[in-house]
Amino acid sequence: MSRPPIYPFILLFCFFLLPSGIQSNDLQILMKLKSALQTSNTNVFSSWESRNSICNFTGISCNSDDSITEIELSYQNLTGVLPLDSICQLQSLEKLSFGFNYLHGPIMDDLKNCVKLQYLDLSNNLFTGWSVPEISSLSQLRYLHLKLCGFSGAFPWKSVQNMTGLVSLSLGDNPFNPSPFSNEVLLLTNLTWLYLSNCSIQGTIPAEIGNLKELTNLDLAYNNMTGKIPVEIGNLVNLWQLELYNNSFTGKLPIGLRNLTKLEMFDFSNNYLEGDLSELRFLTNLVSLQLYQNELSGQVPAEFGNFTKLVNLSMYRNSFTGPLPHNLLSWAKTGFIDVSENFFTGPVPPDMCKQGTLWLLAMLQNNLTGEIPASYANCSTLRFFVVNQNLLSGNIPIGIWGLPNVVHIDISFNDIDGPITSDIKNAKSLVYLVAGHNRLSGELPTAISEVTSLKSIQLNDNRLTGEIPYMICNVSFLEILDIANNILKGKIPQCLGNFSYYLRVMNLGMNNFEGTIPDTFAKGNQLRTIVFNDNNLRGLLPKSFIYCSNLEVLDLGNNMINDLFPYWFEALTNLQVLVLKSNKFHGPIGNHNTRGVFFFKLRILDLSHNEFTGLLPRNYFENFNAMMINDEGRHEPHYMGESSQYQDTMVVVVTYQDSVVVTMKGLEIKLQRILTIFTTIDLSSNKFQGVIPEVLGRLTILRLLNLSHNSLTGHIPSSLAKLSALESLDLSSNSLTGEIPLQLTDLTFLAMLNLSQNQLIGPIPRGKQFATFENNSYDRNLGLCGFPLSSKCGTNELTQPAPPSAFQEDNDSLFASGFGWKAVLIGYGCGLLFGLAMGYVVFKIRKPKWLVRFIEGKQKDKKRRPNNQRPGQRRN
Ligand SMILES: *[C@@H]1O[C@H](CO)[C@@H](O)[C@H](O)[C@H]1NC(C)=O
Ligand SMILES: *[C@@H]1O[C@H](CO)[C@@H](O)[C@H](O)[C@H]1NC(C)=O
Ligand SMILES: *[C@@H]1O[C@H](CO)[C@@H](O)[C@H](O)[C@H]1NC(C)=O
Ligand SMILES: *[C@@H]1O[C@H](CO)[C@@H](O)[C@H](O)[C@H]1NC(C)=O
Ligand SMILES: *[C@@H]1O[C@H](CO)[C@@H](O)[C@H](O)[C@H]1NC(C)=O
Ligand SMILES: *[C@@H]1O[C@H](CO)[C@@H](O)[C@H](O)[C@H]1NC(C)=O
Ligand SMILES: *[C@@H]1O[C@H](CO)[C@@H](O)[C@H](O)[C@H]1NC(C)=O
Ligand SMILES: *[C@@H]1O[C@H](CO)[C@@H](O)[C@H](O)[C@H]1NC(C)=O
Ligand SMILES: *[C@@H]1O[C@H](CO)[C@@H](O)[C@H](O)[C@H]1NC(C)=O
Ligand SMILES: *[C@@H]1O[C@H](CO)[C@@H](O)[C@H](O)[C@H]1NC(C)=O
Repeated sequence: MSRPPIYPFILLFCFFLLPSGIQSNDLQILMKLKSALQTSNTNVFSSWESRNSICNFTGISCNSDDSITEIELSYQNLTGVLPLDSICQLQSLEKLSFGFNYLHGPIMDDLKNCVKLQYLDLSNNLFTGWSVPEISSLSQLRYLHLKLCGFSGAFPWKSVQNMTGLVSLSLGDNPFNPSPFSNEVLLLTNLTWLYLSNCSIQGTIPAEIGNLKELTNLDLAYNNMTGKIPVEIGNLVNLWQLELYNNSFTGKLPIGLRNLTKLEMFDFSNNYLEGDLSELRFLTNLVSLQLYQNELSGQVPAEFGNFTKLVNLSMYRNSFTGPLPHNLLSWAKTGFIDVSENFFTGPVPPDMCKQGTLWLLAMLQNNLTGEIPASYANCSTLRFFVVNQNLLSGNIPIGIWGLPNVVHIDISFNDIDGPITSDIKNAKSLVYLVAGHNRLSGELPTAISEVTSLKSIQLNDNRLTGEIPYMICNVSFLEILDIANNILKGKIPQCLGNFSYYLRVMNLGMNNFEGTIPDTFAKGNQLRTIVFNDNNLRGLLPKSFIYCSNLEVLDLGNNMINDLFPYWFEALTNLQVLVLKSNKFHGPIGNHNTRGVFFFKLRILDLSHNEFTGLLPRNYFENFNAMMINDEGRHEPHYMGESSQYQDTMVVVVTYQDSVVVTMKGLEIKLQRILTIFTTIDLSSNKFQGVIPEVLGRLTILRLLNLSHNSLTGHIPSSLAKLSALESLDLSSNSLTGEIPLQLTDLTFLAMLNLSQNQLIGPIPRGKQFATFENNSYDRNLGLCGFPLSSKCGTNELTQPAPPSAFQEDNDSLFASGFGWKAVLIGYGCGLLFGLAMGYVVFKIRKPKWLVRFIEGKQKDKKRRPNNQRPGQRRN
């Protein structure tokens, strides 16, 4: 028997092994890859079946002999761990692209075996916590994209050293150890794209950056780089994009910049650069120029008016002076201009909207003068028109109120006069109408009620006359209605109480409204602030106030309301500010038998100048929790008010801040903003009788207490010494007897004391704050003696120990601490110090989203950095 021949089998075996051997091996690798990854995108792997040729698989490319050269699977919603050990067995692999997926786990060292790679993109994945693997063997690389790969540890400078052919390098958004700019990178002279933002680079930009002459895109943003921008940057004449924002660069803009005539995107915001912009005069191709938050000064070069491609100009928070260029951007396809918070003077540029593309114009907080040009009515695309806090005057030209696309108009804090014209009805998109603190006159046009998109009407502090048009109740999404301090008259429309479910602020104070307050407040309303002070309102309090369960601020002061104390307000558990002063309220307060917790959030209570009788409301004092608990530690003090944020844009606005007038030392002081730690009780000028309850001593964070001009009797309770935050105490014009408690010297914040016109006797306590009070604090009493009065106390004075000389120290530290009396006046009492009230509106602007497409998906935090980060003259 002969043995069966063996060679046919061998032949057959070799047949499988040779040409398709690579194929089957590559297939195995791809199948391994497929099984390692998951995706919600069913299309990705649907073609990855063994019946298809691997070169026909989605995302796979081959060379002529069918070996795999490219795997391109970016943006495919892939999750899982990348099996690099397999992938790098692909002998011909030149391109590996997995950017913008959700891959996790470590990137394995096997990457070093992908030696033929020319293109590697693993950016924007969820890799975490590992160092850059050894990749110096990938010397063929031309594109290396490892942005946002979760690398930590040392920066891989050495690894890139031998990649001399590198054209594009992106390593941004990795938390590397802080390191200086690498010399190795400076040798990669073929680089065109260099993205190194947000990867902890410190120190200066080396002069040798000028060697990288091919660079078109250089991004060093979000590092901690310091020093001057080197002149040599002027050698990079091919630059198209230069991002230097959010670093600590100092000095002037280098002379070389004028060479960069191809530059289109230039952002050096958020640095400490100074000097003027003359170096930018020749950069006529600029499309986006952002330089906000620096220390730049001087005038804006007139040439900027000829930058015909400029779309985006943002230069707020610098110290520029002089006029804005006459033709600023009048020819440009401008979208976005922000020159706010500088010292610009002169007129606003006259023809801003020739191209009809501008959508944001912000010039707030400068000293711009003159009228708003009539040509602005052509700005039909304008969405944000923000020129508040300037010195603008004259009428608003027809067409501005009614800009068809405008969402936000803020012209507040100017000297603008004239009427609000009825063309406002054309402003079909208007949401925020902010025009307070001007000299607007005429009537509120009925046409305003056709602007049903409005959420905020702020026309306070003007000279508007006439009545509130009843039709205003058509504006049913209204959240803020502030028309305080005008010359409006007539009755308050009945519908105001219930027309808008969204209304949170209704401020009609300081007008001539008459009649009664409408009793129409609806159940479930959102009202947080109701201010009717300084009008001629009469009658009873409306019982429907009881439905305002969100109410925090209620100010009805200075009217003629004739009612008993509304004990039923006890149900308004959110009430923080209650002002009923100077009305015709009468009868007793509190001290009834109802049990429970009430007024426990109240911080400002002013019932002065009424005809209340009976005892002081002891049981209310017991409940004023907000004046007892010091939660300064728990919550940052903040100003009471409303802020509002646009959903789909980059503008944030603080829209309304509560204010209140308090009486301090006989002076009415308007607190333009109410800090949540401000507390006061004013029950003066009523007919209260009886003693001052000891329990007042529990209100340990009370700042002002005024019980003057009543008929109070008995001693001054020594418990008042526990009011350790008290800054002003007025008990004058009562019938108080006995001595001044010695313990009151513990009130180290006390800056104002009035005990005059009582029947007090004995020695005046000495030392600490008491050394600062003058005669008039003690006038007209029965028998007070000692400093500062001229009558001596005789022997008594010796028995009273003079406190330590420490008072001087105490005094200093309390004023230095920022919460002393002066701080109250300056910090909160902005009404008098008008200029300081200017922080009224905070305007923050981020880069428009549409610009992102130019850049590799960067997002920027435009938050203003804290002032204290650096010396220098940053303004507030
Ligand atoms: C990725 O997922 C998101 C939603 O999770 C989806 O909108 C997107 O279209 C997906 N992309 C692909 C390529 O399937
Ligand atoms: C790839 O697919 C196309 C049709 O989609 C087909 O004509 C071609 O033969 C396929 N190639 C291989 C190698 O399978
Ligand atoms: C770079 O190349 C040089 C010479 O080709 C070699 O000696 C050196 O080890 C390489 N450096 C790295 C980090 O691979
Ligand atoms: C740099 O680019 C030039 C021109 O594209 C090319 O000839 C040269 O080989 C590149 N240098 C390296 C080291 O790849
Ligand atoms: C900086 O990079 C970190 C990751 O290292 C990322 O979380 C952060 O969002 C980046 N910051 C900015 C401003 O892009
Ligand atoms: C810059 O330095 C500060 C402190 O030196 C550090 O807190 C911050 O994270 C650094 N920022 C970056 C982007 O490296
Ligand atoms: C850059 O931005 C980061 C993140 O917002 C911030 O922590 C850092 O202080 C900024 N650095 C500079 C110099 O502005
Ligand atoms: C501007 O570019 C020219 C070459 O085009 C170069 O000679 C000159 O030094 C550059 N100037 C500066 C200031 O960098
Ligand atoms: C702006 O361009 C106009 C016309 O091209 C020219 O006459 C004018 O001098 C230029 N202005 C500046 C400041 O360069
Ligand atoms: C406006 O001018 C006044 C008076 O010259 C000056 O005090 C103020 O700082 C200026 N304000 C701005 C924002 O330029």
